Amino acid sequence: MLTTVLTQNRNVAHLMPDDLFTAINDLKRELNAVILAHYYQDPDIQDIADYIGDSLGLSQQAAQTDADVIVFAGVHFMAETAKILNPDKLVLLPDRDAGCSLADSCPPQEFAHFKAQYPNHLVISYINCTAEIKAMSDIICTSSNAVKIVNQIPLDQPIIFAPDRNLGRYVSEQTGRELVLWQGSCIVHETFSERQVVQLKIVHPEAEIIAHPECETSILRHASYIGSTTALLKYCQKSPSQAFIVATEPGIIHQMQKEAPQKQFIPAPNINNCACNECPHMRLNTLEKLYLAMKHQKPEIILPEAIQKAALRPIQKMLEMS
Ligand code: 13P
Ligand code: SF4
Repeated sequence: MLTTVLTQNRNVAHLMPDDLFTAINDLKRELNAVILAHYYQDPDIQDIADYIGDSLGLSQQAAQTDADVIVFAGVHFMAETAKILNPDKLVLLPDRDAGCSLADSCPPQEFAHFKAQYPNHLVISYINCTAEIKAMSDIICTSSNAVKIVNQIPLDQPIIFAPDRNLGRYVSEQTGRELVLWQGSCIVHETFSERQVVQLKIVHPEAEIIAHPECETSILRHASYIGSTTALLKYCQKSPSQAFIVATEPGIIHQMQKEAPQKQFIPAPNINNCACNECPHMRLNTLEKLYLAMKHQKPEIILPEAIQKAALRPIQKMLEMS
């Protein structure tokens, strides 16, 4: 039996991927569940998902699903967002420890103190933050709508932008607005080495460098295109270039290759030449854990009601302004 094998051998995906795929699809029907996956998930999770997307697309899907159960193959703040949008649904996260270094870089108590120093400022927070930070914010944004949202704010309205300083700096440049930045960052996007990216470009002069705005300026200044994961994917499809150096988590390359198999996608190298451009949080989820989460209906996302209610308003505002 599959279940017995799973409890005895935690690493069975390579032995029976077809069985796991079938078992997950059966559970999906039984539970009336939808599987939402971020592009940074393992390829097999992406392949079984009902919807794969960036943070904005996943929130939009979560807001409109009529499934009873949402299985969120992503990290904690993403599953929390789905729960905030669907307080009465069961929201499952395959690994409860799938967190986010960027969300962790903005602790609620310190942020409350920071916010108090800037009265009259509107708080725009990147969706990569905890529900507590969302509850203290006026509007949430993602990497695909941050510029659009800031551009809708009256020019005389001062703004705090949290928690990602790199995205904040990029948005400030694009909008010409001065933003008060919280100094948070993502360990994955800050790991790329400018020197090695430039060396790679010398070896592949035909390749376009494309980057996620969570990267540092030293990388962004070499990019011919900057955008969210969905935007990068779309850009690779429509660009006439046949090769790309991709400065974001390499999970996205699975979809890039599927959608443009004739093109070459080279992951941008990082400082230590290790696998540290793979998000250690995202990669905690596996197909086996996804199966077990559906089978046992846990780990479940549960939030205090007051936080859930306070965090809903800024998320809804984002969905209206996107
Ligand atoms: P997007 O999904 O907005 O592209 O952001 C990437 C990311 O780092 C998610 O954790
Ligand atoms: Fe967080 Fe960075 Fe991982 Fe995204 S890639 S989940 S921002 S640590």
